Amino acid sequence: MTDFSIVDVSPEHIDSILEIEKLCFSLPWNRSALENQMNAENCLFLAAVDREAVLGYIGLMTVIDEGYISNIAVARQYRRRGVADALIDALVEHTKDSLAFMTLEVRESNAPAVALYEKHGFVTVGTRKNYYENPKENARLMTLFFRPEDRDNADNVN
Ligand code: COA
Repeated sequence: MTDFSIVDVSPEHIDSILEIEKLCFSLPWNRSALENQMNAENCLFLAAVDREAVLGYIGLMTVIDEGYISNIAVARQYRRRGVADALIDALVEHTKDSLAFMTLEVRESNAPAVALYEKHGFVTVGTRKNYYENPKENARLMTLFFRPEDRDNADNVN
């Protein structure tokens, strides 16, 4: 088990996050996009860190009572140690009293990420055709509902 903590992203984390973005995604976020997310009032941007490194990060943009997970990644050498679990738990803990739901898109073929979201109670609510480029692929739209009545309605649709 890796010993790490969850902290707000600050300027000294940005270089490491940029590197992880480049290694994980075909269209990585650039420095100014990451800095905007770090500074925006309606964004929560958390990192998992140990004494030496940034292990992973998660970003959430909120509009009134809706949350949108904009990015989540864990550096390859720290995967399967509960880092993403801890990042999602922290995000939920920060927002569950103020949000109705949080939602995200994920590549249909990204089995580890889909399993991660399902483990945390996200349900599939739709598909966005050809949403991704490089390679072109559909997105699965997944949502975590915080209000029981919304969760029940979604269960009836699925
Ligand atoms: N295969 C299947 N399920 C997996 C998995 C894998 N390789 N990796 C993670 N999971 C799921 C499991 O449900 C796991 O729970 P379990 O350990 O009880 O089985 C759960 O995720 C939590 O695992 P954790 O160790 O916290 O995940 P992680 O720190 O390795 O990070 C990702 C998971 C998806 C963030 C990581 O693989 C990653 O950074 N991938 C590249 C970036 C990416 O695809 N981001 C998502 C964009 S939508």
